[in-house]
Amino acid sequence: RQPTDSPLYTLLTAASDYYRQALKSHPTRKAAVDYLKGRGLSGEIARDFGLGFAPPGWDNLLKHLGGDNLQLKAMIDAGLLIENTETGKRYDRFRDRVMFPIRDSRGRIIAFGGRVLGDDKPKYLNSPETPVFHKGQELYGLFEARKNNRDLDEIMVVEGYMDVIALAQQGLRNAVATLGTATSEEHLKRLFRIVPSVLFCFDGDAAGRKAAWRALESTLPSLQDGRRARFLFLPEGEDPDSLVRAEGTDAFRARINQHAQPLADYFFQQLCEEADPRSLEGKAHLATLASPLIEQIPGNNLRALMRMRLGEITGLTAEALAQMTQHAPAAS
Ligand code: UTP
Ligand code: MN
Ligand code: MN
Ligand code: MN
Ligand code: MN
Repeated sequence: RQPTDSPLYTLLTAASDYYRQALKSHPTRKAAVDYLKGRGLSGEIARDFGLGFAPPGWDNLLKHLGGDNLQLKAMIDAGLLIENTETGKRYDRFRDRVMFPIRDSRGRIIAFGGRVLGDDKPKYLNSPETPVFHKGQELYGLFEARKNNRDLDEIMVVEGYMDVIALAQQGLRNAVATLGTATSEEHLKRLFRIVPSVLFCFDGDAAGRKAAWRALESTLPSLQDGRRARFLFLPEGEDPDSLVRAEGTDAFRARINQHAQPLADYFFQQLCEEADPRSLEGKAHLATLASPLIEQIPGNNLRALMRMRLGEITGLTAEALAQMTQHAPAAS
């Protein structure tokens, strides 16, 4: 799928080495070190995730790694440098940011995310799409999670870099993050090849709740019998990072045990909020919304059980529900 011998890998590794070294020894490193400490991260966890620092300035990496024109072009291809198309000037993409290397499933560095130390925008800057980085396919932290435990039974999907790292710091080393994109069917296919159970835990805000429903939709085509997905909804304003640091590992684990909602429960609860099953019109609408989604489930048993539940809620017979998805009349 990707060029295995691309010279970009070497370049990205060299860049990561530079950023890691800068976090240890660059004269301006203190702000970055203080920032990471302020977020509760130990040196050990920073090492585990290869965190680094892109110092302030336009040409730190350019000077460190730059060479002939060919080399500079490769650095542009790798997303490390930006070229101003009008002036032809080249400069470092990542400046004055804490750096998070993104690895593929083999552990090769394929991209970076960089966070500002303060409140500037954008908060996170990510590598662009490159020949070795396809944003919609990768999951941040997956390599690190598997490296730590070859025998995972559940993977937690969160929104952010810091969520993955803060959870790992607290001993919950099975979290991965989508990279500022929605959870896709591709992501779920990959995850279910590794574990039979996926736990979604997005931010406690409107965007996080929207992301959860998108994740549910992306999960349905992977739901063979024997697999499961569950959803943990966080209190308003919290994300996994803030919550696990506030309440600690044991309380967070207990929260998962007590409150993680099975996909089927979340499914019907959410749809019953959209279509009120207390009226016949609501029941009809609910069946219209639910049926095409249920039919995407490949697991025969789960699909049958969810049809039955839909039948219980709406009063529609299995035959009526089956007919509906077979020949739905076109709307006029
Ligand atoms: P959030 O806004 O929830 O940030 O974005 P966060 O991870 O909690 O950040 P902290 O705690 O303030 O450091 C979630 C994820 O969305 C992507 C990043 O991957 C981020 O981790 N994102 C967010 C971006 O790519 N760019 C942005 O400007 C913001
Ligand atoms: Mn890959
Ligand atoms: Mn958010
Ligand atoms: Mn956060
Ligand atoms: Mn967040």
